[in-house]
Amino acid sequence: MNPELWPTDLGPVVCVVGARPNFMKMAPILRAFAAHQPALPTVLVHTGQHYDKDMNDRLFVDLRLPHPDINLEVGSGTHAVQTADVMRRFEPVLETYKPSCVLVVGDVNSTLACTLVSVKRGVPVVHVEAGLRSYDRGMPEEINRVLTDQIADLLYTTERSALDNLLREGISAERVRFVGNVMIDSLLSNREFAHSPAKTLSEAGVDAAFLKDSQEFAVVTLHRPSNVDQIGTLQPLLSVLREVSEKIPLIFALHPRTRANIERFALHDLVNSKRIVLLPPQGYLEMLGLMSGARLVLTDSGGLQEETTALGIPCLTIRENTERPITVEHGTNTMVGSDRGTILSGVDEVLGGGGKCGRIPEFWDGKAAERIAADLSLWLIGRHRRTLK
Ligand code: UD1
Repeated sequence: MNPELWPTDLGPVVCVVGARPNFMKMAPILRAFAAHQPALPTVLVHTGQHYDKDMNDRLFVDLRLPHPDINLEVGSGTHAVQTADVMRRFEPVLETYKPSCVLVVGDVNSTLACTLVSVKRGVPVVHVEAGLRSYDRGMPEEINRVLTDQIADLLYTTERSALDNLLREGISAERVRFVGNVMIDSLLSNREFAHSPAKTLSEAGVDAAFLKDSQEFAVVTLHRPSNVDQIGTLQPLLSVLREVSEKIPLIFALHPRTRANIERFALHDLVNSKRIVLLPPQGYLEMLGLMSGARLVLTDSGGLQEETTALGIPCLTIRENTERPITVEHGTNTMVGSDRGTILSGVDEVLGGGGKCGRIPEFWDGKAAERIAADLSLWLIGRHRRTLK
């Protein structure tokens, strides 16, 4: 068999994206698959879990992602409805394309839904960003991670601790490969194109005085249901952020869930301040520029914990646990939970002492997707040859 050619009777890799954090993971994978010899043929499926211009279209452009071959257009819904709709609409895709495998990333509802459908139809599943665990089963993403890893065939991990988590769950080490972090591939390849904070703010119509007066700023994002869905949690968190804004001005990029809940609970007054800029969800290059220029980041996002570590910017994570412990052990991340005193003293520490310096974790070097392409093509071709014997 000519090693430069993909076997004609071996199907494409169906690559699934659904929600915003999937896009930055998939973009470098698709590029690496196209550049590999032999090139891995792909079909890009978007489940439509995220669909807004701000949550979707802008990121496709920024990340130079190709237009999806198929959009399942599932939209929003309860977890059951969203997961079920993805499953129902994804099944015929397998029939049409007869893929060699389905590749899923991360931990969103679309990840689990497509994994379940594929495994039950005997199509191998490859999970990128496997083995991360918060050990908090109250998080929908934790359920998606545990179940996806349990039934997927090949598990690519971003940090070494992931293997220990998987072994603890009875998963064989043979299914696991440590390749590094594809999200950081995206960050490194786009860093030079990041938009300056001044440009982002002026395009958002923010008074130029904000940046002039504030040589320094902090970036805030909040969207976890556990932080924003109850008034009893959201209100005190916004009050602390208001106090933080007295120490350093805040640029707060609002997820639609958070914006809707601020309106529902009538909490506008807490964020209505000259020292707090509210922005809609940002494009990838805007967010990269804002984070790079920030003195610190306050967030409950998984991706931002990793990106701040890669950028060397101090991050205070407004959660009790993290599934990405390497960002705390090696990186710039500190868990501050939702306690007022802990958050404020975390901010003081950064503003007074500069915060954690951190170092770049192993294999967060911009080459994770290349490692996946090399390993997956060998795995698929080897498997194919065995079935022909
Ligand atoms: C999802 C992921 C979460 C990820 C987050 C990033 C799951 C379980 N959660 O959470 O892991 O960190 O994406 O954003 O998969 N909405 C819009 N426009 C959109 C999409 C959503 O307005 O394009 C609104 C809708 O009101 C929707 C709500 O946001 O009900 C939540 O969207 P959903 O996809 O259910 O979950 P996220 O909170 O975005």
